Amino acid sequence: MSPVTRRQLILGAAPAAASVPLLKLALSGDADAASPSHMSAMAHDVMIGADVPAPGGPNDLDSLLYPPPASAPGEAREYDVVAVDREIEVLKGVTFAAWTYNGNVPGPVIRATEGEMVRVRFRNAGSHPHTIHFHGIHPADMDGVFEIVEPDASFVYEFPARPYGMHLYHCHATPLKKHIAKGLYGAFIIDPPEPRPPAQELVMVMNGFDTDGDGENELYTVNGRAFYYAKYPIRVKRSETVRIYLANLTEFDLLNSFHLHGDFFRYYPTGSSDQYEYTDTVMLTQGQRGIIEIDFQNTGLFMFHAHQSEFTELGWMGFFDVVE
Ligand code: CU
Ligand code: CU
Repeated sequence: MSPVTRRQLILGAAPAAASVPLLKLALSGDADAASPSHMSAMAHDVMIGADVPAPGGPNDLDSLLYPPPASAPGEAREYDVVAVDREIEVLKGVTFAAWTYNGNVPGPVIRATEGEMVRVRFRNAGSHPHTIHFHGIHPADMDGVFEIVEPDASFVYEFPARPYGMHLYHCHATPLKKHIAKGLYGAFIIDPPEPRPPAQELVMVMNGFDTDGDGENELYTVNGRAFYYAKYPIRVKRSETVRIYLANLTEFDLLNSFHLHGDFFRYYPTGSSDQYEYTDTVMLTQGQRGIIEIDFQNTGLFMFHAHQSEFTELGWMGFFDVVE
C-alpha cells in the first residue's frame, strides 16, 4: 500500500482505502465523519458547527482554555502533575498514542504570581523516563534536564516564579524531539505582582500530531483537538478585553502562527513587558509565546487560525462568537 502524505490528505487525493489505516478510522465505526474526502468536501464550505469533525463535547477543554485565576502574591502555588501514556482522540475517529501530563495534550495550565513559590509534585506513571523543564528563571537543579525521573519515581520542582509573562514547560528527556512530539508540554503563566487589568482570559497552546509516525504532523490544533473551536466557537463579550496566553509547542515544523479575522490585537512577545505590536497576525517558532489582547469592535463570528493555510485545513482553526 502506498504511503499517504499529509498533502494528499489536504487535497482529498488519497484513495479512501489507503487513507483509512493512516487515520485509524476503522477503529471508530464512524469512518465517514472524518474521512479525508469528507474533510476536503467540507473545506469548500464554511467549517463551523455540528458537522465539523472535532472529537468530544462542548466543555471538554474548558480546563485548558480557561486558566486558573491569578493568586495573591505571597502564596505558594502547588500542582500535582502525573506523566501517563494515553490514547487521545485528536480528530473524530483518529487517535494518537500520547505521552501526557495528567492525561491531556497539552498538560495542565500552571499559574503563579511573580515572586511566589511554585511547587510542582511530579510523578512518572508513564513507561519512559521524563522530566519537567520550565522556562523562566530558576536554580540549575530545578531545570528538568539532569534530574531524570524514571518510571514510578517522583520529583518535586520548587522555585520562586519569575519573570512575569507567558511561559511554557515541557519534558526534557532524550530524545527530546520525541518527548515533545508525544505531547509532554503545557502553558506556564506568571502574573505580574501588580495584576493585569480584568479580561476574559484564554489559553491557547498550538501543536501538531504525527498520527502515522512518519516524522511530520498530520494534524494541527490548539489545545489538542483538531477543528474543536470551529465546532464549538468560543463565546466572548464585546465589552471586555479578550486576553489570550498563546504558546507554540509544534514539533517538526519550524513555525506556527495565529491570525485573527475582522479585528486587530495587541501582541506582547513573551508577555514580560508592556511593549506590544498592533497587528492581526503573529508567527512563533517552537518555544515562543506571548500574550494577545483583543478589544473586539464588532459582534458576530470571527475566525482565528494559523496563517499557514495548510495548518488551517489540517485542524488549526476556530471561531470567536462575539456577543454584546
Ligand atoms: Cu519525556
Ligand atoms: Cu523549551
